[in-house]
Parts: sequence; C-alpha cells; structure tokens
Amino acid sequence: MPNSSANDYLLYFPYPTASTLSEWLEESNGITRHILENMPAADHVVPQLNILNPPLWEFGHLTWFHEFWIHRDGQVDRASYLKDADYLFNSSEIAHQDRWTTPMPSLESLLEYNHNIISSTQELLCKPIDNKTAYFVQLAILHQDMHNEAFAYMWQTMGRSKPFEAFSKSSKPLANAQTWIHFPESSVEAGSQQGSGFIFDNEKWLHSIHLPAFDISSRPVINGDYLEFIESPANKSGIKTVAPPSHWKKDGDIWLERFFNEWLPLNPASTLRHVSYLDALRFCEHHQVRLPNEHELSQLMRQPGIAWHASNLWEWTSSTFAPFPGFSTDPYVDYSQPWFDGTYQVLKGGSPFTPDRLKRIGFRNFYQGHRSDHFCGFRTCLL
Ligand SMILES: [Fe+2]
Repeated sequence: MPNSSANDYLLYFPYPTASTLSEWLEESNGITRHILENMPAADHVVPQLNILNPPLWEFGHLTWFHEFWIHRDGQVDRASYLKDADYLFNSSEIAHQDRWTTPMPSLESLLEYNHNIISSTQELLCKPIDNKTAYFVQLAILHQDMHNEAFAYMWQTMGRSKPFEAFSKSSKPLANAQTWIHFPESSVEAGSQQGSGFIFDNEKWLHSIHLPAFDISSRPVINGDYLEFIESPANKSGIKTVAPPSHWKKDGDIWLERFFNEWLPLNPASTLRHVSYLDALRFCEHHQVRLPNEHELSQLMRQPGIAWHASNLWEWTSSTFAPFPGFSTDPYVDYSQPWFDGTYQVLKGGSPFTPDRLKRIGFRNFYQGHRSDHFCGFRTCLL
C-alpha cells in the first residue's frame, strides 16, 4: 500500500493569491454554467456509454467535489447543502451505470446548489487565505477544468455543436517536412519538486533517471500519414486491419473530418487526432518507429518552440501510468491510485480545451489505451 502523506500539499508553494483563484474560479465555473444553461432539455439525455456521463450528473458531481473539499473539509459527516449529495455525486461511490438510472435533482436545483457553493467560496476569496484553503480551491478549480474539457470531448463524440470556445486554436497545418531531433544520452529529471507550485500526487517526487539517446519527430503525426497507413495494402490485408478514426468518413472519393457538428474536407497536412494508443502502436509497427516514453516527450517539450511543432493535443506516450519512487496519495486519494492497474497510458501536452494552468510539463494525464474520444494525437521516435 502506498503511503498517504495527508499534508504534502503544504509543500506545494508558491500558492496563487486569493484574487487569482477568484478569477480562475469565475472563469471555470462560468464555462460550466454556460454549458448547462444553454443546453436544450433534450440534450440532458446521452447514450449509456463508458466514455460518457449524463450532463446533470457531471454538473452535480463537480459542485459536490468543490463543496466537499472546501466547505466540508473532506468530511462526510459534515452535511452538504444538497440533500443526498454524497449518495448521488461522489464518483468513488456511485457506479457509472447508476448515473443513468438514479433520479437526479432538476437543473434548476443544481444551478442553485452551484450558485450557493461557488458564492461562498468567492466570499472566502475576498480576503487573504491560508495555504490549505489555497490548495483545495486550486484542486477544485483544476478538477472543474478537467470536467469542462470532458464536456467538450463528449460533445465531439456525440456530434453536438461546440459547448464553449476553445482556449487556444488548433495547431496550424504542418508542412510535410519532418525532421528527427536527436537527444544525446543524458540524465534527466522526472517528477516535480517541492516549491514548484501546485502538483498532483502522481508527480511526487523529483528524481533523476538515465535516458539513453533518442531521436524524436519534430512534428506530430498528420492526417496524410495516417491515411496512407490505413489505405496501405499491408493494413487492408492484415489480420488486424486498422479502421479510419470514427470522426472520418469518405464521401465518394473525398475524405471528410468532423469537428463537433461540422463536416469539413480532411486536410492531409493537419494534425491527426482521435486515434487510440492501440491504433497508434499499429501505425508505429507499420512504419518501424515507436512512441516516445513520457520522459522523452517531456525533454522535447522543454525545448524552445522553434525547434519543434506542438500538436495542441494530448500526446500518447509508451509509458504505462505508474507511481514514481516516493509516491504517496494526497487527500483526494482516488485521483491517481486506483488507476495504477497497468491499463492506463500517460499523455502529455494539452488540448484546445485545456486552460494554461493545466498545461505544465510535469502534468501527467492518463487514459486507457483503447480510448480515442478525448483530444489526443501522437508523435514517433526512431527505433
Ligand atoms: Fe471528477
């Protein structure tokens, strides 16, 4: 069993000021409320799929999370503002399929719940706060940011119109010219250290690793590369044929790509998105290349932007999500620990729907390898 270092968050300084947190909260919660308030009632219903959540459940859950850590001190015996909130909205307790069948409070009562909880926090942020409060407010905001991004990729999955404006534009079409960037054998730092600001428990702690020399692509894989692969005789005749991404379709001779509810001609020079880790591995096998591991990709991300093209996507790595030496859980014990079962891969980077505060090089995102619904892409390394 890993250790639980309940007070490690006191080492996550410097802490943002109350006024910065207040601005972030206003932005993040404003996005969530915009989505819910502008959603036609018919859109409250979503198919029961592992990769989706009912929107009302997701909304209740993120307000519950905020209230639980900031206004209830993480204690179930402190009453919630909303009746049955723990039973309904604790993601560690309510089974995924039950989120469709358990009656949910109305949108009006969830908006009111959200308004009351967030207003209390904004009051708290009118004056200087202690480090503990700063940590938990930041945790709740980042958690809400992640759920906002989930709304965006759920809407993309369902072909609905874009739920909110992206923080950043998709990367520009990339010229075909690709180079391999050579990194000599070195010793590099992995993980994050005390005093580097907010981190998640899976980043603990900074340690040194030996990285053999590697050559990594200056640009992510583009649509044209992938099209050539899926249409190659080797793929079509193979026993494990890779299908086109599910947001692509062929209209006569023309390939189209869907962005939310809009079909556009597929641009071969644009960054490939929505490919699973498993299909990325098959692409690599076909081209006799490999995915970078999380440390190699982090090394690339540390280089000044002129030398390489960022994808503006979460990029798959060959690293299975696992604890670093010295890992211990933080107060939200289910953030990382339940997912160290070997079925999750680390992704680095960030998507157009990720705010800058989550785009730290040290941040380790993680998804199961069969998924392609989130905004993901990949780049390769020479064997
Ligand atoms: Fe959550």
